[in-house]
Amino acid sequence: MAHGLLKGKRGIISGALNDMSIAWKVAELAHAEGASFVLTNAPVAMRMGEINKLAEATGSTVIGADATNDADLEKLFAEATAKLGGPVDFLLHSIGMSPNVRKGRTYEDLNYEWYKQTLDVSAMSLHRMLQAANKADALAPGGSVVALSYIAAQRVFPDYGDMADAKALLESIGRGWGYRLGKAKGIRVNTVSQSPTMTTAGSGIKGFDGFFGFAQEMSPLGNAPATECARFCIALFSDYTRFITMQNLFHDGGFSSTGVTPSIMAKFMTAE
Ligand SMILES: NC(=O)c1ccc[n+]([C@@H]2O[C@H](COP(=O)([O-])OP(=O)(O)OC[C@H]3O[C@@H](n4cnc5c(N)ncnc54)[C@H](O)[C@@H]3O)[C@@H](O)[C@H]2O)c1
Repeated sequence: MAHGLLKGKRGIISGALNDMSIAWKVAELAHAEGASFVLTNAPVAMRMGEINKLAEATGSTVIGADATNDADLEKLFAEATAKLGGPVDFLLHSIGMSPNVRKGRTYEDLNYEWYKQTLDVSAMSLHRMLQAANKADALAPGGSVVALSYIAAQRVFPDYGDMADAKALLESIGRGWGYRLGKAKGIRVNTVSQSPTMTTAGSGIKGFDGFFGFAQEMSPLGNAPATECARFCIALFSDYTRFITMQNLFHDGGFSSTGVTPSIMAKFMTAE
């Protein structure tokens, strides 16, 4: 049931690749909650065509932009604000990719050109987006920015490789801009640290089913599904969270605060 939480708000949603994407669920719910928005993704992802279905279903426009390309981002904010009729009230950064993880290069054997790409695509892109938006005055006062992160920023998950460093940088960039945009315009910036989720980016990680199953068993509420992550993002875009900023918020069913569970301990206990 929709509540009109984003009625009259304008936004930009990045990262909807297919109907498994977290951003896809955010877009569907933002539409149901009354927002008007622009969808954006890398031109190469747009060629797959799936995003057009989402645009049609949500009455939105698609503007291609490689989030590592400043000229593309300038164009994105200029065209989005023109199309929507003003600066945006919310912005979702839902972008991540590591060539090292994709091609199976471990943390002990990184390709440094790919490492730079991981950091650029998955973290610096948030800085680039906010710098472009700020220079173009494309963010409305009192607005809200959310970027998606993962707990590997704080704790080691060996197969997450260089993406862990990217997420640590992403969270730091969130705080850096959160301070500045908060002071200047009352805009909040938060990162949401989401449970493992079955998406294209998620399942690209070696042993993802292991990650997923372990987190499922460790979390008292179980892993948070993508649709629930979308609900939390909508809450953060809404006027009900206006004094939350510069936070990394765990949306993980309690995983980050759980030490161990009886079912996991049982795997190591000798029978008496
Ligand atoms: N799936 C998980 O387990 C999980 C858990 C925590 C956080 N996250 C994060 O959620 C976010 C969204 O990922 P997802 O799981 O929905 O997967 P996804 O594969 O559906 O989304 C990743 C998106 O990044 C886009 N992208 C890649 N390079 C880009 C570029 N240069 N410019 C613009 N866009 C680019 C892709 O086209 C894709 O739409 C990512 O930041 C991811 O790290 C995912």
